[in-house]
Amino acid sequence: MTYSRIAGTGSYLPEKVVTNQDLEKMMDTSDEWIRERTGICRRHTAAEDETCSDMALAAAGQAIEMAGIEVTDIDLIIVGTVTPDKIFPSTACILQRRLGIRGCPAMDIQAACSGFIYALDLARRQIETGGATTALVIGSEILSRLTNWEDRSTAVLFGDGAGAVILQASDEPGIISTHIHSDGEFEDLLEVPWGISSNYEAVRAGEAYIQMQGNAVFRKAVGTLGSMAQETLDGNNVDKHDLDWLVPHQANLRIIAAAAKKVDLPMDRVVVTVDEHANTSSASIPLALDTAVRDGRIQRGQLLLFEAFGAGFTWGSALVRF
Ligand code: ACO
Repeated sequence: MTYSRIAGTGSYLPEKVVTNQDLEKMMDTSDEWIRERTGICRRHTAAEDETCSDMALAAAGQAIEMAGIEVTDIDLIIVGTVTPDKIFPSTACILQRRLGIRGCPAMDIQAACSGFIYALDLARRQIETGGATTALVIGSEILSRLTNWEDRSTAVLFGDGAGAVILQASDEPGIISTHIHSDGEFEDLLEVPWGISSNYEAVRAGEAYIQMQGNAVFRKAVGTLGSMAQETLDGNNVDKHDLDWLVPHQANLRIIAAAAKKVDLPMDRVVVTVDEHANTSSASIPLALDTAVRDGRIQRGQLLLFEAFGAGFTWGSALVRF
């Protein structure tokens, strides 16, 4: 049996930082409100000429270096994003050209904040069934371009960034299981309700922004993350007390704390980076993972639970022996 394991991680945050204090000068909000309700202190925003593939490339470079592989070893590229460089070709194809690789499959996946888990699921199945040996799996987002900076109910929540992993074929399970789900019934609760084939005028006018019913999303996220953790642990006959780290989607500290409570993990066993970069959608789990790997918290051999929830709704998890 062939398994897959995470051989390297990488991440990238744009240079420009927008603090809560900066936002206080732009809209009717306060550092206190934002920190109390979300745990967010600052977010990074991409430079005007910076693209999703620029950020993905930077994160990928770090992951490739940590994995100790040649770029040409990569035989599958999957990018989770809702903010691609172009409508087509995919950001994954653009990244492939920029990495100087040719021929291997490259694709984007759009599952909003669950995009990285969806990409990981797909990549590990490709590796396990012989379709690939070395996959580059990325989440990269420039949500600042979908943010209405006059809407305090959403503007304070989102940021830009990218995270990457190299997934390699292995004799022993690294990715033990992945679980992905969606329910389109909740489309209206969290959306950018304009696109290419509907309400295109708003896109052309640069007025396509994130809209959200925060309270309803909050309740649904907390409930779903709890049942998803249970599904993941039960499916593998793993006791929650065997987990070393929870690496959750970084949307809101209160959602993260509720998810940690469901698996009985104290907050010092939960990787939290939302304070530093706000909600970066599909980039947030690999960003948090890379942070904790590089600062030495996450060690080889430890058992990790990844959990994500996002627009769609989509949700997903992964149980990982690092
Ligand atoms: N600054 C100051 N006041 C604000 C702000 C702000 N930035 N935004 C809203 N308010 C006000 C509201 O107008 C409201 O005022 P009112 O009582 O006079 O009407 C008051 O604060 C309370 O608003 P609520 O929306 O009820 O505040 P809540 O405690 O629910 O917090 C929040 C809002 C932070 C959005 C919360 O609902 C949340 O985190 N939801 C989850 C959404 C999320 O994280 N989405 C990301 C994508 S999905 C995912 O990744 C999980």
